[in-house]
Amino acid sequence: MTAGLARLTDELGILYGGDYNPEQWEPAVWREDVALMREAGVNLVTVGVFSWSHIEPRPGEYRFAWLDDVLDLLHDAGIAVDLATPVASPPPWLGHRHPGSLPTTADGTVLSYGSRNQFCPSSPAYREAAVAIAERVAARYAGHPAVRMWHAGNEYGQFCWCDRCAERFRDWLRARYGTLDALNAAWATTVWSQEYGDWAEILPPRVAPYHRNPSQELDFRRFGSDLLLDLYREQKAVVRRHDQGRPVTTNLMGFFGGIDPHDWRADLDVIADDAYPDPASPDAPADAALVNHLARGLAGGGSWLRMEQAASAVSWREHNLTKSPARLRTEVLQALAHGGDGALFFQWRQARSGPERFHSAMLPVAGADTAVHAGVRALGAELRALRGLVGERVHRRVALLWDWPSWWAATQVALPTARLDPLATLQAWHRELWRLGVVADVVAPGDPLQAYDLVLAPALTVLERPAADRLDAYVAGGGHLVWGPFGGVADGLAHLHAGRSPAPLRHVLGVSAEEWVPLPDGGSAVSWAGPLTGHHGTATTLGERARTDGAEVLATYDDGPLAGSVAVARHAHGAGRAWYVGADLSGPGGGLEAVLRAALDDAGVALGGQVPGVETVWRGGTLVALNHTDRPATLVLAAALAAGPDGVRAAAALTDVLTDARHDASATLPLAPYDVVVLTGRMT
Ligand code: GLA
Repeated sequence: MTAGLARLTDELGILYGGDYNPEQWEPAVWREDVALMREAGVNLVTVGVFSWSHIEPRPGEYRFAWLDDVLDLLHDAGIAVDLATPVASPPPWLGHRHPGSLPTTADGTVLSYGSRNQFCPSSPAYREAAVAIAERVAARYAGHPAVRMWHAGNEYGQFCWCDRCAERFRDWLRARYGTLDALNAAWATTVWSQEYGDWAEILPPRVAPYHRNPSQELDFRRFGSDLLLDLYREQKAVVRRHDQGRPVTTNLMGFFGGIDPHDWRADLDVIADDAYPDPASPDAPADAALVNHLARGLAGGGSWLRMEQAASAVSWREHNLTKSPARLRTEVLQALAHGGDGALFFQWRQARSGPERFHSAMLPVAGADTAVHAGVRALGAELRALRGLVGERVHRRVALLWDWPSWWAATQVALPTARLDPLATLQAWHRELWRLGVVADVVAPGDPLQAYDLVLAPALTVLERPAADRLDAYVAGGGHLVWGPFGGVADGLAHLHAGRSPAPLRHVLGVSAEEWVPLPDGGSAVSWAGPLTGHHGTATTLGERARTDGAEVLATYDDGPLAGSVAVARHAHGAGRAWYVGADLSGPGGGLEAVLRAALDDAGVALGGQVPGVETVWRGGTLVALNHTDRPATLVLAAALAAGPDGVRAAAALTDVLTDARHDASATLPLAPYDVVVLTGRMT
């Protein structure tokens, strides 16, 4: 994954540019675009994502001259191309001639063309047409010198519930379970008289009178992700027939539920991610960092690419706040600090027509004489100067475990509570880390953990034996683990583990629970003990009736249905320690921060500079300090240095590390509103 990106960045430096949709414009505009791109420092554009109908207006009738001209123009200007196989939006002719290629929703509605994404992933008509257009594009342009990367489709993520998808689902289930008996057992179909006597009876989870089978739902999510992965692989294989070397990828969407990126990453030559933080959210900087941590985690800790972002406002929220150029710069450099070796946008030129005409772009509809475009140019110049950061590894000692099956299982219906949202829990735990100046990778429970001093599992509802065994070995080997609420509840089929919970991990945690207990509005007070004495906390949403089986009790419920029961505990297991956090403590005054601080301290992880809204990240020997607020801030550098890689801890290193002109060795760093300072220096 990282190698695919390095091929590009070795040649081009930090990648800068965006989606370019020349089919919406006249040739005179293309020439202006290319000239302006050069001035803005653009070195890579994604072409063709939505150009299928422009290339193939009628089946088998191809129109390539315009694309030839565009690629030549870009190449002559020294701008590289990430060329799309344009299969995300089939032309109207496909849906018109093959109505079966259109997607069907769970309630049986067939979605029309006239938008985009109007395809059923298992439609042979769609797949044949998609392979044919990819074949034409790849054959024609594999030798074009502008093309440096391939972009299959766009943001894969849709589902279809049609009869053909039902057949494909059955094929997938046959491959997974072999026999109907095994499927019936896996789905526990004795419940509510759901036993299947014939494969033909099995359907996707369509709209039904009451709750659907949770195991069937979970398998359908897996199937949907695999089906789209098949499509992606089909496209990649076409490209590979013509181009054996250049990286092929598609764009992920951060924490998007439609596909499981952990199953996709091995097929992506570059981890490419789209992100649109909401400027209206006070948590946007922390949550944006979390999305960056996910991309880096998917890239095995290495570099990744921001494939899309907005230069200012998006147009798909109800109320679309703009971003100042300064704030945009902060977001772009934040991603760079977190291992993003490129900053691409949706899109280069703002559309004048179509549904996205109010979506910002690098070149606004108002033209180049705009604050947004001036900001884009300044950013292009700055990124050229920061080329030295490319490929450097981000310094982090903490991992956040996250997996899609847990997310899917914990957002089904008929749970103890519908109020404990796993993604919100992950975000809440990460926001505490972010405020404490701690950088963490988001990784899967099956990923190697040995490099991390502390592993947090805020929301792993699904825990299978092999993952539990790996966590056991990690802690026994000296690692530190913090286990979150409603964790380890179910296996990979969403069946509850038998016995006291979390059954596969209770010996590691030294705590076990017998009942999940939703808490009354207002929550329950908890009293703290041991290293947490003196803190106050309130458990909200959900706790469990738990007892210690050898763990040191650190917090107990004072009142409510769990009065007297264990809320937080710590347990020595082998050479390491496991922390149990049985309740949601992430609300205001909940106490989560105190628990995480204590666990970080226990694991020997130093906190960073903790100025509100200011983030510090070490990438290689460079410290990036970002003020995400609209107020001036002062960063005390000593703390940021303490959280850095070994070798820059000594105070004596301070002067050597800092070469920024604004800094004099006074150990504090003034930051203007939305300021970013990149401090690069000699490592001791
Ligand atoms: C997604 C799509 C783009 C565009 C943007 C708008 O990321 O991939 O084509 O629609 O959203 O924000």
